Amino acid sequence: MQAVIDFLKQNESRYINELCDYVRFPSVSAQPKHRDDMKTCAEWVVKRCQQAGLQAELCATKGHPIVLAKTPRRPGRKHFLVYGHYDVQPPEPFELWKTPPFEPRIEGRSLFARGSSDNKGQNLAHIAAVEAYFKTGTELPVDLTFVIEGEEEVGSASLATFLKERQAELKCDDVVISDTGMPDKRVPALTYGLRGIAAFEVTLHGPARDLHSGIFGGTVDNPAMALCQLIAKLRDENGRVAIPGFYDDVQELSDYEREQFKRLPFTDAQYQQMLGVPKLFGEKGYTAFEQRSARPTLEINGLTSGYQGEGSKTIVPAWARVKITTRLVPNQNPAKIIDLVRNHLQKICPPTVQIEIQSGHGAEPYVVSPTSPQAQAALRALKSAFNAEPILMREGGSIPIVNDFKKILGADTLLLGLALPDDNAHSPNEKFDLDCFAKGQLMAAHLWQELSKI
Ligand code: BES
Ligand code: MN
Repeated sequence: MQAVIDFLKQNESRYINELCDYVRFPSVSAQPKHRDDMKTCAEWVVKRCQQAGLQAELCATKGHPIVLAKTPRRPGRKHFLVYGHYDVQPPEPFELWKTPPFEPRIEGRSLFARGSSDNKGQNLAHIAAVEAYFKTGTELPVDLTFVIEGEEEVGSASLATFLKERQAELKCDDVVISDTGMPDKRVPALTYGLRGIAAFEVTLHGPARDLHSGIFGGTVDNPAMALCQLIAKLRDENGRVAIPGFYDDVQELSDYEREQFKRLPFTDAQYQQMLGVPKLFGEKGYTAFEQRSARPTLEINGLTSGYQGEGSKTIVPAWARVKITTRLVPNQNPAKIIDLVRNHLQKICPPTVQIEIQSGHGAEPYVVSPTSPQAQAALRALKSAFNAEPILMREGGSIPIVNDFKKILGADTLLLGLALPDDNAHSPNEKFDLDCFAKGQLMAAHLWQELSKI
C-alpha cells in the first residue's frame, strides 16, 4: 500500500497536467453544438483508462456515449462500480470568467475551468488511484467497473437503459461516487442523502407577434407581466412553496439529524458572506443547512421574454418563458410533483394568455444508512487520506442515477465528495482544489483496502 501512496505523490504534477487536458474539452451535454466535443472527450477518457491498465470501451447510446472500464474479473472478489460524469454545465455567461472556461488556469492550489470540480477532477482521482495499484504491481483487493457518463447534467436519460441492458455485467456490491461536496478542505465528508429534482418549462403565449406597446399596450395582457404574477404566487411570505399538496409526502428531519447538523462546521454568517447576499432567505423554522439539504424548494432557473439587447424596444412581447426546477426530499415523487405543479398553474393562469407546460427530467431523492459496514469503511478511508475525522451530511444537489443503481442493480451508493463550497460549481470561475484532488486519490486508494475487509 505504501508503494501506491508513494506513486500517487510522485506523479502529482502529471495528474494535474492530465486534469488540465481533460477540462479542455468543452463537453457541454445540454448544447447540441457540442455533440462532437462530447464524443472526443469520452474517447480521451477511454484512452486514459486504458493507460491506467483498465479494459475500457466507448459505448454508444441514443444520447452521449458512456465510458465503461474494468479491472480483470476474479471470481470471489467483491465488485464495486465507480460512477462519474464527463459532461459539464454550460459555461455562460462567458464575460464573468476571469479566464476562458475551457482554458485551465492554476492559481495557488486551485485549478480553474468548467468541469474541474463537477466532475472531471473527482473522477480522474479514482482513475489515478487504480493506476497506482497497477503500475506499482500492488494487488487490488476488489474488482472494479468504472461507468463515466455524458448526460448527468441533463438527467442521465441513456444511462438507465444502459444499466438494464448490462444488468448482469454491472451487478455489484456497492456504487462509489465522488460528485458531491465536503464542508471544508480539512473536513472530509460522507454524504448519505441527496435531494431529488423535477424540472419544467412554462411558456405564456399572448399576441400572435410582438406588438407596438404604444399603439396596443393596455388592451392586451402582457405575457411577461402575467408570467411574473403567476410565478409570484408559487411562494408565500414564509418561504414555503405555495402549491396545494406540495409538502404532503415530505418526511420531516429526525431530532437526531437536526442535532448532528448543528455540529457541522457551518455558520450562517460565513455562508451569507460566501454567497454574496445581503441577507439569507428560506423556509421559516429551519436552519440554512437544513433548508439546503433536507427541505424541498422551487426555484426559477431562467426567465426570458421580450427584448434583451442594448437600449430600448417598445413592445408587448408575444410570449414569456420560465425554467423551473423543484428539489425534492424523501418521500416526494417527481412525477406526482410535476402533476401538482401543472394542475395548479393551469388553474391559476388568467384567460388572457395561453399556457404551455413542458415537463423535463426528474429524479427521486435518495437516502441511505450512514451506519452500514460499507459506510464505516468509507469513513475510515476518508480519515486515513485527510488525516481528519470525517463528518456525515446530506446534500441539496441531485445525482439522478443513484436511485436506478438501487432499483436496477440492487446496490447502495457511497457518496464521497471532494468539492468545496466555494468551488463555483455551475457558476463562472469553477475551480477544483488541488489538495482535494491529491487527497481524493489517496482516499480512493484506501477505500478499496477498507471495502475489501468488510
Ligand atoms: N455534482 C452535482 C450534484 C451535487 C453537487 C450533489 C453538490 C451534491 C452536492 C451534479 O453534477 C449535478 O449538478 N447534478 C444536477 C442534476 C440535474 C441537472 C438533474 C443538479 O443537482 O442540478
Ligand atoms: Mn453538476
